[in-house]
Amino acid sequence: MSGIVGYIGGQNAIPILIDVLRRLEYRGYDSTGIAVIHDSSLAVRKRAGNIENLKESLRNEPLSGSIGIGHTRWATHGKPTENNAHPHITGRIAIVHNGIMENYLTLKESLIKEGRSFISETDTEVIAHLIDKNFEGNLEQAVQKAVREIVGPYALAVISHYDPEKIVIARNENPIVIGLGKGEFYVASDTTAILSYVKDIIFLDDGEVAVIKKEGVQIYDSNGKLTVKNIRRLGLNPILMEKGGYRHFILKEIFEQPRAIWDTVRGRISGGDIIFEDFRLGDSEIKKVNKIFITACGTSWHAGLIGKFMIENLSRIPVEVDISSECRYRNPIMDSETLLIAISESGETVDTITSLREGKRRGAKTISICNTIESSISRESDITINVNAGPEISVASTKTFTSSLSALYLLAVYLAKVRGAINQNKVTEKVQGVLDLIGKVEDVMSLEEEIEGLSRIFYERKGFLYLGRGINYPVALEGAMKMKELSYIYAEGYPGGEMKHGPIALIDENTPVVILAPKTSLYEKNLIDIEEVKARQGVVIVFATEGDTEVRKMASHVLYLPHVTELLTPILFTIPLQFLAYYVALRRGLNVDRPRNLAKSVTVE
Ligand code: F6R
Repeated sequence: MSGIVGYIGGQNAIPILIDVLRRLEYRGYDSTGIAVIHDSSLAVRKRAGNIENLKESLRNEPLSGSIGIGHTRWATHGKPTENNAHPHITGRIAIVHNGIMENYLTLKESLIKEGRSFISETDTEVIAHLIDKNFEGNLEQAVQKAVREIVGPYALAVISHYDPEKIVIARNENPIVIGLGKGEFYVASDTTAILSYVKDIIFLDDGEVAVIKKEGVQIYDSNGKLTVKNIRRLGLNPILMEKGGYRHFILKEIFEQPRAIWDTVRGRISGGDIIFEDFRLGDSEIKKVNKIFITACGTSWHAGLIGKFMIENLSRIPVEVDISSECRYRNPIMDSETLLIAISESGETVDTITSLREGKRRGAKTISICNTIESSISRESDITINVNAGPEISVASTKTFTSSLSALYLLAVYLAKVRGAINQNKVTEKVQGVLDLIGKVEDVMSLEEEIEGLSRIFYERKGFLYLGRGINYPVALEGAMKMKELSYIYAEGYPGGEMKHGPIALIDENTPVVILAPKTSLYEKNLIDIEEVKARQGVVIVFATEGDTEVRKMASHVLYLPHVTELLTPILFTIPLQFLAYYVALRRGLNVDRPRNLAKSVTVE
């Protein structure tokens, strides 16, 4: 949560800091700020609200300097005001910080007793005072001493005009990386944000402190010993970070889905077979697995719910799916015969990381399905299945969701194959299904115009109900989530059969009910749901399979999607729901790429 940037080199840091902050805004946009060392003094500029406010202030009163740090904030401690915005300057240092300091109140009290005064409500200011208090002319030593007192996750970057010529950064559980340029260095909480500047990256590990000077980088481990780190070369294409002619990132990312899914599956299938080379678990170990446990948050949790259907259906291994923020506190049952799958777009969701660690502690073999290479979740899991959707800039997840589903589908087929639950012919049939899917995902994009038309009718409604059954019940949850996130309209996702046990009371002529009714084993049951809603004067929007004339007679709004096998229907049927949420939000004049209160990467509890 929140974004950190830093620059040291021969260029003016300001435009670089601003550009990287703009790219980091999806991590939060409650306030932005920068601090630079200029003429042997510290200059800071910060504003509440998004980066445009900061840019305007810099236009009116420019700053310059070749060493600087910056921050875009998602508020945790303290309101999103200018006063609480980062960087915080205390005495001789300026700091930007991500994380939650669990012991900040106790430390704040003792710092106050020592005569220090506070001007913000943030925990960051406590860290600033700790560093300042320990500062005796060497910034890294002050940071090393200060971070020993912090309980909780953090990533931070600090500069001081009393020890200029350097940026000091530190990490514990929250990501921060160093980008290596020629005679210049970049710092960021997210590699993708500095992708257009550098290719070579050093990832900091927990407890490490790095000193970055124009001449080079030194990294100390948690015991204060100098350590040698690997440099990783990133293969990501910076073009993926641009809007590429689309009006919004989210629209671009919706349209990228055929490519994103293809990039996720290609390389894992060949000649009608699955070749899951990155699934490094021996056949005998796969056969020993007696339970799969999936943990994730939000949209990734919805992917997990769908993964359960895929895996159980094909391999017959029992699957439990648990929201990570619940899982970590409930003493879950896992042992050495459990396969724990953590699903995460960012790879930095703190609850998911903690659940993964909990699974490891209990002896489970851990797999991550993750869209961010080198993220904490990827690096900490025994096996990483990279989702190759490419950087997702819009805060609401779209292409990563459907790409994760494709990865889960391949995994389900692979597990079933190794355990002998399906024969080779079936494997080939399943692989062919995925290959055919790509073209069908492309076809679904043509629904855009029709859905935009629907948005005109429904954008002022107060609530939406989404119904789906079986493997499409989590799709209803995801559709409702997208509607809530983007349009701020209350939306409820429900299993169709459960509607009569409560949500039916919501139905009247003003509440649109979106019903997923693909031709699956539960199709007839979907028809019952449509009838029940209609009987209560509900307005029904049905997403059905091409050629289905039955639903046409029943519902006023029917949109058709190509036929795919049941296990692949969620990938296809999610896409029109993304369009619907997007166009409803657009008509309501909302910021579709950065909905209020949300952040892309949730690194706090
Ligand atoms: C919704 C959305 C969130 C994330 C959730 C978990 O559109 O993006 O619900 O899915 O915050 O994040 P990751 O997948 O990064 O662990």
